[in-house]
Amino acid sequence: MQASRGAPSKRTRARFRGGVCGRPRAGPLRAAARPWQRARAMGGGKSTVYWDYIKIEEILALQAGIAESDAGLSNDEVMFITVHQIDELWFKLAIRELAHVRDLFAHEKVREQSLANAVRGIRRTALLFEMVTGHFALMETMTTRDYLGFRDKLSPASGFQSAQLREIEILLGLKIEQRLPLGHDHDYLRALRYPDGSESPASRRVEARLHDSPTLHEAIGEWLYRTPIQGSTPEQRCDEEVVERFLERYLTAQAGELAEATKLATAAAPGEADRQRLEQRYRQEQINARAFLMAEDAEPAQRRRWSRIRAALLFIESYRELPLLAWPREVLDGIVELEQAFVIFRQRHARMVERVVGRRTGTGGSAGVDYLDQTALRYRVFRDLWAVRTLLIQRSALPPLERPEVYGFVAGEGE
Ligand code: HEM
Repeated sequence: MQASRGAPSKRTRARFRGGVCGRPRAGPLRAAARPWQRARAMGGGKSTVYWDYIKIEEILALQAGIAESDAGLSNDEVMFITVHQIDELWFKLAIRELAHVRDLFAHEKVREQSLANAVRGIRRTALLFEMVTGHFALMETMTTRDYLGFRDKLSPASGFQSAQLREIEILLGLKIEQRLPLGHDHDYLRALRYPDGSESPASRRVEARLHDSPTLHEAIGEWLYRTPIQGSTPEQRCDEEVVERFLERYLTAQAGELAEATKLATAAAPGEADRQRLEQRYRQEQINARAFLMAEDAEPAQRRRWSRIRAALLFIESYRELPLLAWPREVLDGIVELEQAFVIFRQRHARMVERVVGRRTGTGGSAGVDYLDQTALRYRVFRDLWAVRTLLIQRSALPPLERPEVYGFVAGEGE
C-alpha cells in the first residue's frame, strides 16, 4: 500500500512519456516525468518538492473529460470539468470533517474540548459549501450556446451521480423516504451504478456510507437527549416531571409574549378582517408551539424522547449564558449555519442552471430546475434546530433557572 501511494497511474505515466511507443519526448514534459522517479531513487521524502507533494503534474493532466488531452477542448469545457473537480475535492474535505464531528458526538460523554473541536469542523464544512456556491458565478460566465457546444458529450451523466454529495446527505442524516424521485424508473442508488446495473466506485462508496452509523443527526439527538434540563438528567427518578414542568412554564411565558405581540399587531391592523387574521395567526403559533414541544408528530412510543430532545434545544438556546451551555449553543448555531449553507448551495445551483440552460430536462433525466428547487425546499435534516427559533422568548420572560450550580454558574455571575 505505502509504496504505491501517490504513484501516477499507468495512463498518466504514458501521457508524460508521450508517443505511442513510449519513447521519451524531449523538452519540459520529459523533465516533468522525473520528479517521482527522482524522489523514489533518493529514498522518498528527503528532499520533498512542491510539485511532488501536491501532485501538480498529475492534477493538471486530468481536465480532458473523455478525450485524451484537453488541448482540443474549449475553455468553457475545461472550466466546466475543473470546477466540478474542485467541488468534488471540497466535498471530500466536507465528508472528512463531518465524519470527525459525528465521531466526537458518538461518545457517551462528550467533553467540552470536543465541543470546541466539533464547532471548528462544523463551521469549516459550512465554509466549504460557501466556496462551492461561489463557483456557480464562474459557471455563469458561460453562455447557453457555449454549454450546448459540449453538453451532448455528458449525457446521460449528471451531478446527480455525485457519490460524495450523496455521502454528505447520508452522513448528515437525510432519510431515503425524504428523497425525490429522479423522474424516471431509476432511484438515486441505481443512478450510481453502471448502465448494465453493475456496481461502480460511486455505488460502492454510497452503499458503504449507508452502513456507516450513526448519522450526525442521530449522534446529536443522543447527545441532546442527555442534556441536563433544570439540573435534571434522564436517568434521574423525577426527570419526566422536571422536564414537563419546565415546558409548561415555558409555554405559559410564551403565551404571555404572544398575547402582547397580538395586541401590538392588531392595534395597527387596517380593518376587521385583518385583525381576525392576525389573531388567528398568533393563536396558531401558540398551538404549534405546544404540539412541537410535546412531539405530537412523533410515534406515541417515541414522544417522550423527542419531547425531551426539543426541551433540551429550548433550554440550551434560552440559558446559553450558563458556562456549561455556551459550547452546546455554539454547536447548535454551527449546525444551523451549515444547513443554511447547504440549502443556499442548492438554491444557487438551481438559479445558475436556470440561467445557463433554462428549464429543460437535465442530462440525468430529472425535471432540471424544478427538481433542484424541490430538493432545496425538502432536503432538510435538522428541522428541529430551526423550528425551536420560532419559540424563543425574551430573557426577562424565561422561567427561573433551577439548580444553577449544575451549569457551572456562580451566584452574581453573568448578569
Ligand atoms: C452549466 C453547469 C451546470 C448545469 C447546467 C447543471 C445542471 C444540473 C441539473 C439539470 C441537475 C439535475 C439532475 C439532472 O437531471 O441532471 C444537476 C444536478 C446536480 N448538479 Fe449540476 N449543473 C451544472 C454545474 C454543476 C456544478 C459546478 C456542480 C458542482 C458541485 C454541480 C453539482 C450537481 C449536483 C451535486 C447535482 C445533484 C443534485 C441533487 O440530486 O440533489 N452542478 N445539475
